Amino acid sequence: MKLEIKDINKVLILGAGTLGLRVALQSAISGFETTIYDINEKAFEAAIKIQDGILRGLQKRELITEEEIEAVKARLTFTTDAKAAADDADFLNESVTENLELKKQVWAQFGGLCPEKTLFTSNTSYLLPSQIAEATCRPERFCNFHFHDVFYANVVDIMPHDTTEDWINDFLFEMGRKLNQTPVFVKKENPGYIFNYMLMALIGAAGALKTMDVGSIEDIDRSWMGNFKMEMGPFGVLDTVGLDTAWHITSNQPDKKSQAFAALLKTYIDEGKLGVKVGEGFYKYPNPRYKDPDFIQG
Ligand SMILES: NC(=O)c1ccc[n+]([C@@H]2O[C@H](COP(=O)([O-])OP(=O)(O)OC[C@H]3O[C@@H](n4cnc5c(N)ncnc54)[C@H](O)[C@@H]3O)[C@@H](O)[C@H]2O)c1
Repeated sequence: MKLEIKDINKVLILGAGTLGLRVALQSAISGFETTIYDINEKAFEAAIKIQDGILRGLQKRELITEEEIEAVKARLTFTTDAKAAADDADFLNESVTENLELKKQVWAQFGGLCPEKTLFTSNTSYLLPSQIAEATCRPERFCNFHFHDVFYANVVDIMPHDTTEDWINDFLFEMGRKLNQTPVFVKKENPGYIFNYMLMALIGAAGALKTMDVGSIEDIDRSWMGNFKMEMGPFGVLDTVGLDTAWHITSNQPDKKSQAFAALLKTYIDEGKLGVKVGEGFYKYPNPRYKDPDFIQG
C-alpha cells in the first residue's frame, strides 16, 4: 500500500532523547499529530523542557507565534504505552539508543503492534538499514531516514536497502521537505550516510590527536574553529551529539585509534559527563569555554 503525504495523520517517534524530541517537535510544527514513545518516563520531562526552549528560540526569531506554539504543543502526545503509541500510526521514525540488538528488539515489538499501513523509518546514525530490516517484519516497507540536528542542521538522509520499495524514496523526499529539511539520497548503503561519513573522519582525527597527546582538547577545537571560522570544534560537536552515542559508534570500529578514542570517551561517560544533554561533557554548559569571545585567541 503506497502512501502520500496527505495520508499521514499520525506520526510516531520512538525515543524521546536528543534526536527523538527534535524530530517529534518538527513533526508537530509541520502539522502532524505526533506521539513520542519512550520506556523511560523521565525522558519526557527533559524533552518537554528542551522543546520549549527550541520553540521560544523560534518565537524570538519571529518564525512562530504564541498561538502556533500552543497548537504545536497540543499536537504532541507522550506515552510509555507501546500499544497506544502504535495504534493507527501512519509514519514511524525510530530514535532509540544506538545499539543494534536494542533496535532489533524495539523493531520486532513495533513490527507486531503497528497496523499494516505504517511506514517504518530509522534515524540510526551508523547502522545500515539491511542490519535492521528483517527485525521490522516488513523489510520492504523500511528505510533509513536520518536527521542531523533538525533545527540548526536541517539535512535528512534517505538510505534504502536492497528490498525497500521504490516509491518510498519519493515519499521520503516529500516528507523531508514537509519537515523543513533538505533531503539527500544515499545511492548505496554506507555507514554514516554522506555528512556523518565525512564528520567521522574529522572526529576520528581529533580523537587520535588527543589520545596520542599531540594537542589538548581546547587547542584541537581552537585550530578547527580558527581556520574554518566555525562556531565549535570536533569536541564541541561530540558534546552536542552525546558522548554515549559517540561511544556506541566508536567502540564498534575495530582499529586501534578508534578503540583508544572509545576508551577516552568511556572515562567521561563513567563520570556521567555525556555532553550538552546533562550539562557537561568535554565542556560545561550552558556556557562552554569555546563560546567565550577570547577562546580563539587562547
Ligand atoms: N545525537 C545525535 O546528534 C544524533 C543525530 C542523528 C541521529 N541520531 C540517532 O538517533 C538515535 C537516538 O540518539 P539520541 O542521541 O537521541 O540518544 P539519547 O540517548 O539521547 O536517547 C535515546 C532514547 O531512547 C530511549 N530508549 C532506550 N530504549 C528504549 C526502548 N526499548 N523503547 C523506547 N525508547 C527507548 C531512551 O530512554 C532515550 O530517551 C540513535 O540511533 C542515534 O544514532 C543521533
